[in-house]
Amino acid sequence: MEKLKVAIQTKGRLNEASLKLIQESGIDLDVGRRKLLSEAGNFPMEVLFLRDDDIPQTVADGVADVGIVGENEVLEKQKRVVTAKKLGFSKCRLSLAIPKSTEYPGPEFFIDKKIATSYPNILNHFLKERQIRADIHLISGSVEIAPGIGLADAIFDIVSSGSTLVSNRLKEVEVVMQSEAVLIAKPDLCMEKQEILNELIFRIESVQRAEGKKYILLNTPNEKIQEVAALLPGMKSPTIVPLAKEGWSSMHSVIAEDDFWEIIGKLKKVGAEGILVVPIEKMIF
Ligand code: PRP
Ligand code: ZN
Repeated sequence: MEKLKVAIQTKGRLNEASLKLIQESGIDLDVGRRKLLSEAGNFPMEVLFLRDDDIPQTVADGVADVGIVGENEVLEKQKRVVTAKKLGFSKCRLSLAIPKSTEYPGPEFFIDKKIATSYPNILNHFLKERQIRADIHLISGSVEIAPGIGLADAIFDIVSSGSTLVSNRLKEVEVVMQSEAVLIAKPDLCMEKQEILNELIFRIESVQRAEGKKYILLNTPNEKIQEVAALLPGMKSPTIVPLAKEGWSSMHSVIAEDDFWEIIGKLKKVGAEGILVVPIEKMIF
């Protein structure tokens, strides 16, 4: 039987979240030892561990069938891959930054300046659009130290929390693109592999749908059911089960964690009792 080869990052910002997503999708991976390849125990899939920079090429070449990588790498590398699904984690931006004490008049600042980056293509595109001629210095790591050691006037790099910029006395002056993790695939997968990929995406969506959602159970006097139901959106409509206690019912529904405290307050006011809130692992429609 065919196996889907999935490339993920060996270490770094994407590694942990990628592994977590795979494991929450019910796929067993042995990741104890640092390996180059790990076979799933209960799903037709193999995981290849690679540098994120190499993932688009590896997928385009068909050495891996799919990969989990930042949109920034996909755009930079310009390989023949398709984005099968945006994954919503590892959100960051690609920005231009300059020394904190330097005045910034606007993008014209960069005319004839040296900019250190690992993302020359994306930067080049940005500069070209604004007809700015600058000197791009390609550096593969620790880009943020370049201005401090006199190697560049500015940097173009990933910003997430912003702490790397702060600790290197830099300030973000232009956000060039937003990025997040995406699932990329080789454009012409065989049918068997495409089916495995579809199943993987189905599982990922079930896990992600449950994120930020809680299952709520409560007891209410029967005459309050309508009022309580109006407060509980649920997947279709709330489940209502009569209680042994005359005139009372138990209601079950799904609520968003963000609305949680507001809804609880309203439910109590209406007269709901014995409110239970439990986590949801997966949601399938
Ligand atoms: C990026 C970037 C910065 C840091 C920014 O490196 O090069 O060093 O993250 O994040 P912050 O704003 O939260 O401080 P990353 O760890 O992704 O490694 P890589 O560029 O080698 O893949
Ligand atoms: Zn990288």
